[in-house]
Parts: sequence; C-alpha cells; structure tokens
Amino acid sequence: MAARYALIGNPVGHSLSPIIHRQFARETRQEIDFELIEAPLGGFAESARQFIQDGGLGFNVTLPFKREACQLADYASERAQAAGAANTIVVEREKRLYADNTDGVGLLADLDEHNCAIEGMDLLVLGAGGAVRGLLQPLRSREPRRLVIANRSADKAKELAADYPNCSIEVAALPDGLENTQWSAVINATSASLYRQLPELPARMSISLWAYDLVYMRQATPFMRWAKKHGAKTILDGTGMLVAQAAESFRLWRGLRPPLEPALRAVRKKIRG
Ligand code: ATR
Repeated sequence: MAARYALIGNPVGHSLSPIIHRQFARETRQEIDFELIEAPLGGFAESARQFIQDGGLGFNVTLPFKREACQLADYASERAQAAGAANTIVVEREKRLYADNTDGVGLLADLDEHNCAIEGMDLLVLGAGGAVRGLLQPLRSREPRRLVIANRSADKAKELAADYPNCSIEVAALPDGLENTQWSAVINATSASLYRQLPELPARMSISLWAYDLVYMRQATPFMRWAKKHGAKTILDGTGMLVAQAAESFRLWRGLRPPLEPALRAVRKKIRG
C-alpha cells in the first residue's frame, strides 16, 4: 500500500504540492499517495489527528495553521522553534510528531541556485506576516550587512523583530519610513501580489542585484515588474522556493533527496498553461 502524505491548510484547493510530491515520488521510485486536506478554521488539530489515525506518515502545513502545527508536535527542530511555525510534520514511531520548517532552506536553496548572494548585502524584506517569520533566521545566518523589515503597519514589524532579539533586524514603516534608498536585494513577502497589487513603496528606490517575490502566478507579479524598472538584475518568483521547501520535506519523510528540475518543470507547466 502507498505511504500516505498530505497538505493540511485552508484553503488548499489550488495547491501545487500534489504535483510536486508526485513528481518527486516518480523520480525516486517511491510509492506515495499525496492528498489535500482542507481543515476547518479552528479544526486543524482534529484534522491532523484524523489523518494520523488513518495511517498518514507525514504532512505539510500551510496557512493559516503553521503556528498551530508547531504547537501540536511533540518536538520541533531548532529552525521551527526559531520561526515559531512549522510547515512539515513527520509522524514517527508510536505516532510521535516531529515538526520542522523548511521554508527558509527552500528560499536559500533557490537563491543559491541563481547565484543571488546575501552575505554582505543590504537586504530589505517587505511585509511582517507569517511568511516572514520562517525566513528571518535563515537569512540572518547568511550574514547580510543589513537586514531591514519594512511593513505598512510598523507595529507589526516591531513585534516580529522583537521575537528575534539576537538577529539585529531593523524595522521601518512603509511607504515613507525607509531612510535608505539603495538596496542590494529586496524580498517581497507581503500578500499584495495575491491581489495583483504592488505594496506601497517609496518613490525613490533602487535595487542593485536581485529581487524575489514569494508569490508566483502566470505572469510576472506587479512587484517583479516594479523591481525590473528599479534596477534588479535577477528577478525570481516563489516557484523555486516552493519546490525546494517541498524537496526538504520529502527528504525528511522518505530519507531521499529528490531532483528539483522535473518538479519545477511540472509546476511551471501547470501555472503557465
Ligand atoms: P499571514 O497570514 O502571512 O500572517 P498577514 O498577517 O495578513 O498574513 O500578512 C500579510 C502581509 O502583507 C502583511 O505584512 C501586510 O501588511 P500589514 O501588516 O500592514 O497589513 C502585507 N500587505 C498586504 N497587502 C499589502 C499592500 N497592498 N501593501 C503593503 N503591504 C501589504
């Protein structure tokens, strides 16, 4: 019988995770079954327990349950603890639950793949929601010269930075609180692209190296077009990170590192039609 895995979230209808994990399974000759579980809001723990009861061996977790997933687990990796959020659960012997967060390594792997350096850079992160939480420590570990979180509501950025006292993260309010106008790289971790909007940004701003939008869609996002106009040389969307974080989850579940390229091709084919 195929080993059962899933993605639990709300909503999950448009998730690309089944395409990715099925491709990984084909490439590594693993017999797995990957399903989507839409847990009702407030019903994450129950849905997770039911899936485990039914024989599930692991699952990914997406919005809005990543923090709850970390709490549900019996123990968590250092990086999940640092993020206070988990996107991967491994069901171990006697149904002990191990939580990990592979989002940060996914982003770093994709940046490395495209030769986008972080070390010594002036790095600006837009947004202070859940998406940023898993990324701060991994980004900091690569020693940028400056790491600034800018958010429309500055208080939210301050609260987030306060959770990472050892990470020397600066905060600023969007659109006018940024003193610096020249950045090496900018990561858009706001949800603005989901609504086909550009985050509110200062008029004067230049990007010397790269820009990354965590969101992906059929065409370039408004942020990606903006980044091009403002000088970014390499502009990436979130597909690479999506596949790389899934690969790390797959490795945790199956003990094998799947190749990324076939899954990336499958994802891009699905998105771009
Ligand atoms: P999550 O579920 O990821 O935690 P969230 O808390 O809604 O989602 O965070 C979404 C992020 O996108 C926030 O940082 C939000 O800014 P605010 O905290 O000021 O609301 C940001 N965001 C969404 N739309 C935006 C827009 N049009 N311009 C700028 N920031 C935007």
